[in-house]
Amino acid sequence: MEGYPLFIQKIYKKTGIDLASYKERQMKRRIESLIARNHYDSYDDYFNALCNDGKLYEEFINYLTINVSEFYRNPQQWEVLEEDVLPTLLKHKKRIKIWSAACSTGEEPYSLVMLLTKFMSLQDISILATDIDLGAIAKAKEGIYTAKSIENLPKDFVSNYFQLVDGKYHIKDSIKKQVTFQKHNLLEDPYPPDCDLIICRNVMIYFTEETKAKMYHKFYESLNDHGIFFVGSTEQIILPNRYKLTPTKTFFYKKMT
Ligand SMILES: C[S@@+](CC[C@H](N)C(=O)[O-])C[C@H]1O[C@@H](n2cnc3c(N)ncnc32)[C@H](O)[C@@H]1O
Repeated sequence: MEGYPLFIQKIYKKTGIDLASYKERQMKRRIESLIARNHYDSYDDYFNALCNDGKLYEEFINYLTINVSEFYRNPQQWEVLEEDVLPTLLKHKKRIKIWSAACSTGEEPYSLVMLLTKFMSLQDISILATDIDLGAIAKAKEGIYTAKSIENLPKDFVSNYFQLVDGKYHIKDSIKKQVTFQKHNLLEDPYPPDCDLIICRNVMIYFTEETKAKMYHKFYESLNDHGIFFVGSTEQIILPNRYKLTPTKTFFYKKMT
């Protein structure tokens, strides 16, 4: 379908989301299937409809952002975090600054709070969790999850930190209070400074190589000396030394000083 470059420009003006930074083939395929599903036959008509129909617009943003997440996604990596990465980080510091970037509906930052209770008291834990999608952030703040999403979570965390209400798992306020959610666009907004641990998983895969390179530099700048960058299971960094990051374990990189 023609008209994608102009659509990109209009969407950027309207939403601040730069589709040109996302892999084109994948993004076009997704958007075109959405256009067809809504019975439009051009980017132009679809864009005009988006501007006049809040529901359609919301559907577009939701579809675009792909909010799939779960607690303890790829559990082996959470084991490495528990057994190796966190003990090393906490050897020299009692409190660490953690940023969960592209946190979606909150499963990742809440998993982190639960894991950190093994190392420190709850009130010493504070996590910054950000995402571009305000709808996802609203769900994260609500903290209500399905049985499927907590499948990988250690059973004692489930019994200690959730209440089962009508078949849904409601996360307890004590956990919620330790996470600050904010809207943040990884492509545009300044990255928070002085992080000891940045966890950014399952979003880099959507970006072009050029965009990823820019982002790795920004993550590097965001980290404290010896800070750790934790990536998703299909997101290993090619030649990480280019960004002054060095692998410590698979999927974990340390800032080189
Ligand atoms: C598949 S989810 C990943 C959630 C979680 N990190 C995980 O691994 O389970 C991808 C998230 O990236 C967010 N996202 C996409 N583009 C973004 C951007 N430019 N800035 C910040 N977040 C973005 C989406 O809104 C979505 O919530």
